[in-house]
This record gives sequence, structure tokens and C-alpha cells, in this order.
Amino acid sequence: MKGIILAGGSGSRLHPMTLAMSKQLLPVGDKPMVYYPLSVLMLAGIREILVVSTPADQPHFRALLGDGSDLGLAVDHAVQPTPGGLAQAFLIGAEHIGHDPAALVLGDNIFHGPAFSDLLVENAKNVDGCVLFGYPVTDPERYGVGETDSTGRLVSIEEKPARPRSNRAITGLYFYANDVVDLARELTPSARGELEITDLNRRYLDQGRARLVDLGRGFAWLDTGTPESLLQAGEYVQTLQSRQGVRIACVEEVALRMGYIDADSCYRLGARMGNSDYGRYVMAIARELG
Ligand code: G1P
Repeated sequence: MKGIILAGGSGSRLHPMTLAMSKQLLPVGDKPMVYYPLSVLMLAGIREILVVSTPADQPHFRALLGDGSDLGLAVDHAVQPTPGGLAQAFLIGAEHIGHDPAALVLGDNIFHGPAFSDLLVENAKNVDGCVLFGYPVTDPERYGVGETDSTGRLVSIEEKPARPRSNRAITGLYFYANDVVDLARELTPSARGELEITDLNRRYLDQGRARLVDLGRGFAWLDTGTPESLLQAGEYVQTLQSRQGVRIACVEEVALRMGYIDADSCYRLGARMGNSDYGRYVMAIARELG
């Protein structure tokens, strides 16, 4: 399965913080926001990843992630010249996807929960159609909203409905069969001129090929769209990290634990940042697991 991280958009709700800086590079706790969705793909076993960003931001993503080889990944970079909608990622990424199934994660979505890697790996297997991940929220009208029958099959999906039929928000992580590229090509732009992910998902729903997996209680899906929620996400990460002494979305640790790099390489990555707590954590993990 190939992965795409979509890190476009203007982040206008975070202005002026995002006037000169990509939203997905802002700090959440002690690391750039994009580390969180990157670690999600890595935990799903995905190592070939395309990062889609704006033309202005692309050099920064290249500087941060390079070609991914440090983490045992193959990272490629592409631009979304103007905000053309989330589903445009599959047109931009068509060549990257090739003949494989694809996972899309939004660059501003933060997931954290127990046994997440197992859930991801399990659901990334044999995707026929699409697999969406639902999360109960108190304000579903701000998101895509899904409704399922008793077998977990999706029966309705709406984008930011005024009167939501359920409280299950569709999170920004999506697994698709390879025909996602063809279906995305058939989409027509919405009233705001964008290729909407919810329209794409509705195609799968109409074909009876859409599944919704629930991320239940005990799981955190955090928003970073406003200054308040960005700060809250950082506090969540900081609280757990300082209480438990483990780090969330430490991509070097994930790479080591997943067997993408060995302990020596991991140690060297930590040593490069040895002046920070983060760097020292990476070195300690490498020593512990080496
Ligand atoms: C997008 C999607 C929406 C989804 C959300 C998750 O909304 O359109 O369906 O629930 O991401 O983060 P946006 O955040 O672009 O308004």
C-alpha cells in the first residue's frame, strides 16, 4: 500500500501563525505536526509515502523529511498548486500510487490510542473499496459524518451537515483500493470548486464498498484547526509524555520498532539532535532496544 500525506491549504483559521509557515509544520508538543500523520502511515506498515504541500511550503517539507531514507522510508514530494480539495491528492499522486492500494492521511490529523498499529495493519489488508475511520464527537456538523448498519457497512455520508444523522465524524485517514484514482478522476468539483473526499467516499458507498471502523472510547483524535485546539493538542501530548516518559509520534522510534532502521542508525539520528530532550530520548530508545 502506498501512502499520501496531504499538507496543503492556507491554514487561514490559524492566521497569523500560518502566514509564512505551513500549518502542518507548526509544533504540537515537541515536534512538527506532520510527524503525527507520518507516524500513522509508518505504523500501518506503509513505507512509500508522497507528501503533498503548497509550492511555497515544499522546500520546508523537503528540508525536514528529505527522501525519507533516514527513517527507512521512500518519501517523495509533490505540490498542490491551489486548494483543489482533498480528493485531488489522488490525481496528484496517481503515478506514486501506480498499481497499489492507497492510504491518505491529512497532515493536520492527530491520532493516538492503544494497539493502533494492529488496527491499522489489520484494516490495510485486502481493502476492497474504502475503509474510513469514525470517531464520536460532540460537534459532528464540523466534519464529514457517517452512519452505518449493524454490520459496519456505511449507509450514509454527508459533509458538514447542518443536521447530522449521527455523532460519528469521519476522520482524516482513508484506505482505498487501487480504483481510487479512476473514481477521483470522475469527480466533478463541488460548489466551492473542490474535489471533495466525501463525494469520493459516497461513490464507494453507492457501490456497497465502504466500511467504517470505529475508533472508540480511550482513543484520541485531536483537532488542530484553531489556536485553542492546537494548544489543547500540544497539552495532551505533553501531559502523556511527561507522565509516562514515552513519546507520541517519535518517528525515529517508530522506524526502529517497525524494523525500518537498526538501533545504530536510530542512535545516530538522536545524536544529531542530542541538545534537545527529544534527541536524547531517541538515543535512549536506541540503546534500550539495541
Ligand atoms: C476534512 C473533510 C472532512 C473530515 C475532516 C477530518 O474537512 O472534508 O470530511 O471529517 O477533514 O479532519 P476539513 O478539515 O478540510 O474542513
